[in-house]
Amino acid sequence: MDTEHEYRPVYQTSLVDPAHFWSDAAQGIEWDVEPQQVVDAADKRSARWFPDGRLNTCVNALDRHVRAGTVAEGGHADQPALIYVSAMTEKTTVYTYAELLDEVARFAGAMRELGVGAGDRVVIYLPMIPEAVISMLACARIGAVHSVVFGGFAAPELAARIDDAEPVLVITASGGIEPGRRIEYPPIVLQALELTETTSVRTVLVKQRRPFPTIEFAAPQPATDVLPASEQTVAARWMDWDDTVAGANHADPVSMAATDPLYILYTSGTTGKPKGVVRDNGGHAVALAWSMRNIYDVGPGQVFWAASDVGWVVGHSYIVYAPLLVGATTVLYEGKPVGTPDAGVFWRIVDEHDVRVLFTAPTALRAIRRADPEATAAHRHDLSRLRALFCAGERLDPATFEWASDTLLAEHPDTPVVDHWWQTETGWPICADPLGLQELPVKSGSAGVPVPGYRLRVLDANGNPVPTGTEGNIVIGLPLPPGCLTGLWRDRERFIRSYLSAFPGHYLTGDSGYFDEDGYLYVMGRSDDVINIAGHRLSAGSIEAAIAGHDAIAECAVIGMPDELKGSLPLAYVVLKQGVEIDPEQLRAELMDRVRSQIGAIATLHDAIIVSGLPKTRSGKILRKTIRQLTAGEHVETPATIEDPAVLTALADRILANPPLGNPPITDASAPDHDGDPVAPGS
Ligand code: COA
Ligand code: AMP
Repeated sequence: MDTEHEYRPVYQTSLVDPAHFWSDAAQGIEWDVEPQQVVDAADKRSARWFPDGRLNTCVNALDRHVRAGTVAEGGHADQPALIYVSAMTEKTTVYTYAELLDEVARFAGAMRELGVGAGDRVVIYLPMIPEAVISMLACARIGAVHSVVFGGFAAPELAARIDDAEPVLVITASGGIEPGRRIEYPPIVLQALELTETTSVRTVLVKQRRPFPTIEFAAPQPATDVLPASEQTVAARWMDWDDTVAGANHADPVSMAATDPLYILYTSGTTGKPKGVVRDNGGHAVALAWSMRNIYDVGPGQVFWAASDVGWVVGHSYIVYAPLLVGATTVLYEGKPVGTPDAGVFWRIVDEHDVRVLFTAPTALRAIRRADPEATAAHRHDLSRLRALFCAGERLDPATFEWASDTLLAEHPDTPVVDHWWQTETGWPICADPLGLQELPVKSGSAGVPVPGYRLRVLDANGNPVPTGTEGNIVIGLPLPPGCLTGLWRDRERFIRSYLSAFPGHYLTGDSGYFDEDGYLYVMGRSDDVINIAGHRLSAGSIEAAIAGHDAIAECAVIGMPDELKGSLPLAYVVLKQGVEIDPEQLRAELMDRVRSQIGAIATLHDAIIVSGLPKTRSGKILRKTIRQLTAGEHVETPATIEDPAVLTALADRILANPPLGNPPITDASAPDHDGDPVAPGS
């Protein structure tokens, strides 16, 4: 294998001389004030990239491409910036760079007139419509810090994020469209505002869309209608997006320090409280622009499609910012991989819009494979211009990889299927096949090689490096490269506790895996209580909190149970309060309802099983890992720290007598010999 040519030396330089490496990469960005210093790593735990540089991220994404003129003149003003394809409304709308800039600058002006300024937070709770992209870029333009909340989250999750971010403005829409049902957002926002403690929200802006009924915003406003008189003075005013934007002037961009926050994106931790990952402006722009060219091999004028949702990090980085930062065209897709209308929709869009790189989640490919095992629909379209199919969000399991390579892309052996690994915290890939640098051989089951800038190690529970082929905790040496989180919103203590304390000098990814002899990383799963459902990261703790609120429940444990389509599904073991008698079917339905209404439909429980007790340590910690092993039918050694071994025996008997029904995934023959047991420090 020739890995010496391009990738290796570039990777080495990025680690040995990061200042030189990232100063070169910073040339891809237009600065208001060129940074003289590349990184201030006096405190390695929170490196500050380009600390004396100033820029505006929106200018880099839009203005500079428009200012350079038309495509004929060397700019991109008349080139499509955003292609909005809605399978739900059967509409496609194309915005050129000039048109998108016009919309963004006008909306930024409207926000200004509402009193939103630099540093203010704005929560965006929208379906996959262009206004989501416009809102994000408009915030970047005026220096407001956006916090996008996935449109599938229920009111309590939205409320938790509003309470933490304390936004002055919430942007929403009249609704989102899911197959077979419509979700009205204003009642959810209203409920969330009732649940919040903060009184920071002054305005709620609603984008009205068909087919939802028109809302009249004449007084009395919805918020004041439902709030008790004592609280009416702090009620947010509700306004219509179109009316507000109609008379607004364009806002000029605000020059921001590279280290100023661009956005907060909440992600699931091990407890119920979401973590507010903070991203800066400068490091983010530099890293994302570098990644487009060097990892994805996409440049100006080419079409990049990340089939994700703007509510997740993939949507932030690769639907919105990265493609626009390099003058490419991005696709915003409202729909599913199957059923809207069929399993051919991805391939039709790739063909029709000349998509060069498609980025999706393995679960989407599994859904397509299930609906169309021979990929007949894909073969009806011309996929010859597809440079690569990238996957992330969860591990690309070998069976899906092989199907995608050998069946889906059978006629295109030169189109690689690339698994790459990253997380909300890093904001861009940690491991990949860097196609723009050098196309390396792809290995089934592996997430590729470390991306330049990331110093990766695999450590055992004591912090010692493990041998090649042995699974352990994947960590990143500090300082983290540009683009990665700069901290958790207003919670430095949690930032250090969650990521930096387990292995001093390293960032703990929370993932477990191993390197092979060629330096390829295999990411096998989480070593904590985060559950990955259909590429969405959810915390066992928050699902447990929703269940624990049920009157009948004394305590519960939620684990991820393997599922062929979605990777995992949440499964709850519940203990009833003493003396409570309830029909298990009724309880199951009520708990499912609770989880849907407290977290959202994406977290819907697979099952809830009543047990007599849950195994715990003597300090009262529920032994979730042991429960996971029992559920998976693995042999379990009684943990030395167990409080009452009889509880474990009873649970094992219960599971053996009545194993939870699921769809186990296809096993992975490529994994090395290991105990299959993620090595969490202190677990
Ligand atoms: N707003 C409101 N509800 C939403 C939603 C949203 N944005 N997204 C999903 N939901 C709801 C769905 O309507 C569904 O509700 P239901 O139980 O009432 O039917 C529930 O959440 C589960 O949805 P979903 O996860 O989409 O499951 P599915 O069975 O409908 O579809 C897949 C299965 C595999 C097709 C789908 O999960 C998928 O497309 N996954 C890809 C995920 C992805 O791209 N992740 C990005 C990671 S980078
Ligand atoms: P999120 O922060 O929601 O993007 O989720 C990140 C988590 O998803 C990671 O920490 C992994 O557990 C998992 N993940 C994402 N991409 C991959 C991948 N390519 N291989 C294995 N796990 C992945």
